[in-house]
Amino acid sequence: MRLDRRQFMAGAAALAVWPKTGGAEAAPRIIEARAGMARVVPGDYPETEIWGYDGGVPGPLIRARQGETVSRKLVNALPQPTAIHWHGLRVPNGMDGVPGLTQEAVQPGGAFLYELPLKDAGTYWYHSHNQSTEQVARGLYGAIIVDEAEPPEVDHDISVLLDDWRLTGQAQISEDFGAMHDWTHAGRMGNFVHARLLPSPSEVLRNQRLRLRLVNVATDRIMAVSLNGLEGRLVARDGMPVEQPQPFDMLVFGPAERADLIVDVTAGPGEAAQILLQQRDGAYVLAELPVTGQGASVPRGAIQALPPNPVPAIGDLSQARAVALRMEGGAMGGLRQGTYMGRLLSARELVDEGQIWTFNGVAGLPEEPLASLSHGEVLRIPMRNETVFPHAMHLHGTHFREVLPDGGLGPLRDTILVNPDETREIAFVADNPGDWLLHCHMLSHQAAGMKTWIRVT
Ligand code: C2O
Ligand code: CU
Repeated sequence: MRLDRRQFMAGAAALAVWPKTGGAEAAPRIIEARAGMARVVPGDYPETEIWGYDGGVPGPLIRARQGETVSRKLVNALPQPTAIHWHGLRVPNGMDGVPGLTQEAVQPGGAFLYELPLKDAGTYWYHSHNQSTEQVARGLYGAIIVDEAEPPEVDHDISVLLDDWRLTGQAQISEDFGAMHDWTHAGRMGNFVHARLLPSPSEVLRNQRLRLRLVNVATDRIMAVSLNGLEGRLVARDGMPVEQPQPFDMLVFGPAERADLIVDVTAGPGEAAQILLQQRDGAYVLAELPVTGQGASVPRGAIQALPPNPVPAIGDLSQARAVALRMEGGAMGGLRQGTYMGRLLSARELVDEGQIWTFNGVAGLPEEPLASLSHGEVLRIPMRNETVFPHAMHLHGTHFREVLPDGGLGPLRDTILVNPDETREIAFVADNPGDWLLHCHMLSHQAAGMKTWIRVT
C-alpha cells in the first residue's frame, strides 16, 4: 500500500487533534493542584493568591465527547493532601475522589490517576473533596463539559461559573476557614460574588443563540439568578436533559447545582445581555455581554429538547424500600446530643469536636451506611430538614429524581435544596456498585457533620 504525502499529512493532523488517551504508551495528561496567582477582582486590586488546578482558577475546562474516557493524573503540589471529585459524573466508585471512602487522599508530592468513562453528556464540574471548605474556597475547581453526539446548534457555548469569594481589602483570600459562626449558620459567605465565563465571547449579536451552562461553585452560597436581554428555555439540570425545554424566570442554585440554558439574545446593539444575582436588596450584575451588532433579522426556531442520557428508569415505586433521613443541628436548632465516631456526645461535646449537624442523630461519616442496596434496587429517601437553614443534598454516583407530593417524579438531579421544615423525597436505581457519599453540599455543613453514605453491591 502506498501512503502518499496528502494522506500522511491528514493522518498526522488527525493525530495532533486527537491525542491518544489511555493507551499503554501515551502518558496521561497531568492536572496539577498548586498555588498560583489569579485575577479574581478586576480593576486596581492586586492579583489573588489562590490554589488552583494547573495553578489557575477556575481550573482548565475539560471537554470531551460522550462515550469517550477522560484520563487525568492528579499531581499534588499543595501543602495538604487532596483528591478530585468529578461532580455528577457517574464514574466507577474508585474514581469518585472521596478520601476515606473511595481512595486515600493524595499526599503532597503524590499522584493519582483518574480514568473517567463518560456515560452522560452534559455540564459537570470537578473540585477538591479533601478539606474542601478550605480547598474549594481557595479555588480548587473547574468545569467538565461532555458533548452530545450532536450538540444543539448555538453561536456560543459558554460555561458560567458562579463563585463567591471571601476576600480581604487587598483582594486576598480570607483564611478564616472553619470559622465556628459560619459552620453553625449558613456557611462561609463571601463578599465578592461573580460569574466567570468560559469562554467570554468577544462578539455577541442580537438574535444569536447561546448555550449557557451555569454552575454554582460556591462553597456555601445559594444563588438566585435571572437573565436580562436573553430569552429561552432551561434544557438540563445537573447535567441531565429535562424532557421538555422549560421556560424560566428566576433560577435558584444551591451549591453544586447546574442548569443548561439555551437562550437567544434579545438585547439590541449598544445594550448588554446580563446575568443577574437576585438579592433581597436588589439585583447585582454577575456578568455582562455587550451586544455589538445585529445578527440574523429574526430569532431562530423553537428550542429542542436534548437527547436523554442512558439513566435507568425508576419503574414501580410502590415496592421500593424507603429509608428516612432527618437533618438536625446548627444554630437555633436545639440539638441536644449526637453520635460522633461511635460515641454519644452532648451538643457541647460535639461542638468541641467541630461537629454541629447530624443526619439521623449521627455527626460525620457513620460506620454503617444509611442503606445497603443490591444492584438494581430502587431506594426512596425522604429527607426531612429539622434545622432552620436550607441544605443542598448531594448524592454521589447516581442521579435521582424527586418523588413529588402527587406521586409523580421530578427531573433527574444530583443535588437538591431542602428548605427548613421541608421534607423532600428522592428515589433512584442503585445501578452503580460501590460506596457513595450522600451529604450537604454547603461545604461548611458537610465538614461539621452532614454526611452519610450508601453501599451498592
Ligand atoms: Cu460536589 Cu461530595 O461533592
Ligand atoms: Cu447544609
